[in-house]
Amino acid sequence: MKVLLFGKNGQLGWELQRSLAPLGELIALDRFDQDYCGDLSNPSGIAETVRAVGPDVIVNAAAYTAVDRAETETELANTVNALAPAALAEEAKRCGAWLVHYSTDYVFDGSGDKPWREDDPVGPLSVYGQTKLAGEQAIQAGTSRYLIFRTSWVYAARGNNFAKTMLRLAQERQQLSVINDQIGTPTGAELLADITAHSIRTALKSPEVSGIYHLTAGGETSWYDYAHFVFDFARQAGIELKTDKQAVAAIPTSAYQTPARRPLNSRLDTEKLKTVFDLQLPDWQLGVERMLSELYGTRG
Ligand SMILES: NC(=O)c1ccc[n+]([C@@H]2O[C@H](COP(=O)([O-])OP(=O)(O)OC[C@H]3O[C@@H](n4cnc5c(N)ncnc54)[C@H](OP(=O)(O)O)[C@@H]3O)[C@@H](O)[C@H]2O)c1
Repeated sequence: MKVLLFGKNGQLGWELQRSLAPLGELIALDRFDQDYCGDLSNPSGIAETVRAVGPDVIVNAAAYTAVDRAETETELANTVNALAPAALAEEAKRCGAWLVHYSTDYVFDGSGDKPWREDDPVGPLSVYGQTKLAGEQAIQAGTSRYLIFRTSWVYAARGNNFAKTMLRLAQERQQLSVINDQIGTPTGAELLADITAHSIRTALKSPEVSGIYHLTAGGETSWYDYAHFVFDFARQAGIELKTDKQAVAAIPTSAYQTPARRPLNSRLDTEKLKTVFDLQLPDWQLGVERMLSELYGTRG
């Protein structure tokens, strides 16, 4: 079996290189690949790549993920997040391949406090969310064998993430402000990659699982409580922080202006995924603790 991976060096792409390798021959590309076009700003180029490789499964981990910059770089964000997935869907259909793609909680407007289900009405607040939604819709319209995983608050040991940024700031500053009214679930790229491999195996045997799924770790938190979780870990690991526990201020989203609006309610209901693929989703703390242990030494 041939698996073609786009975006091999992102947080998720890096973990997919590990989790997809046992499935068969893995051709993993980034945008600078010398042999094939892996640049999603060139949809006809990546279509040509699919035709040349002839994969059984295409996994697209590449995306334009600069949420604030997308407000001004709209055309590029749309090409990478919507037109390129549309081209992948067309080629996947042509060669009979499965297409695996990732989307986001930002397709929702963040109202209410219930976890969003896959069939709830969408209403993106940002250009990034709009382009990701357009990508989903293009795939659904273009092919019948796809898995789209909507996820949230992705982190990995490799690259920058919220936990690392918070730790750096807490080592530099005496006071910090962290948003406490956005609620979601930190989700490790490792978990996403492992579940992707598992789901592909299922899909190859049971094509009726084709569809859109919410995929996050278990539980929920705010950025504020997430930051405290990270600081508690750091203190126990003997990392010196300049910011005292009491010096972390909880602030509302409205007090922190950004070019792109972000949803307050980012909870995703994962029941469909758990039922269809017979899976359990570990609580978010487990994965974050593991990532921090790898980076800064083990707890206790
Ligand atoms: N990060 C999150 O919190 C989050 C939340 C919800 C959903 N998601 C979704 O999850 C998926 C994986 O995200 P991630 O966290 O792994 O993102 P990431 O770390 O930002 O990785 C995205 C990758 O896409 C690549 N890329 C960007 N433009 C490209 C282009 N024109 N051609 C080829 N590659 C290009 C980037 O390459 P460069 O490094 O060279 O730019 C990077 O390797 C995405 O679909 C994202 O929308 C992410």
